[in-house]
Amino acid sequence: MTTTPTTEALAVASRPAQRRRPVPRALAPDVLSHLQLHLQMELQASYDYFRLAVWFAERDLKGFAAFARQEALNEHHHACLVADHLVDRSQPVELATLQPNTSTWDSMEAVTRFMFDNEVAVTASAQQIYSMAERAGDYITSVFLDGVIQQQTDSEAQAAYVMSRVRLAGDDPAALLLIDQELSRGEDDRPRLAKDGNS
Ligand SMILES: [Fe+2]
Repeated sequence: MTTTPTTEALAVASRPAQRRRPVPRALAPDVLSHLQLHLQMELQASYDYFRLAVWFAERDLKGFAAFARQEALNEHHHACLVADHLVDRSQPVELATLQPNTSTWDSMEAVTRFMFDNEVAVTASAQQIYSMAERAGDYITSVFLDGVIQQQTDSEAQAAYVMSRVRLAGDDPAALLLIDQELSRGEDDRPRLAKDGNS
């Protein structure tokens, strides 16, 4: 059954986004435009990770596929966080079309290098906006980006670790399958010298 929107509902829907809530502290134009770009980067990263998950699945590397799929979900969540921040600040959320990923990878090292480079680019974007926000005195965005950069730095380290392990495996399929099994368990098994509870 369809319902006809009321005149009041239509009026609310057609209001400019920035009028929906009061704006106590406006965002500087450069901070806003780069947050919009960053949101787009997170969505693109999610799409790219999904493409990687398919690439791994096609090669029966189920641990790598699970890892890439989870990262796709994580990147989507990051995009949601940026969108929430913009909505909370009464700013418009503008979405552009995602770019089709036409990259072809001919080795495990190339594919893990692609993952790592993507993470580095997203981290650089977040750090750039952080600097802009600091210059603009936009401490709300700075505090928001603290969490983003922390998560992003961890993703970057995780991608570097996977790439390093793949390099160690070299052309040895047995070693690669061992890494695949580790990733299948879904645990962060990076070496940690400081363990919880052992201060
Ligand atoms: Fe992200």
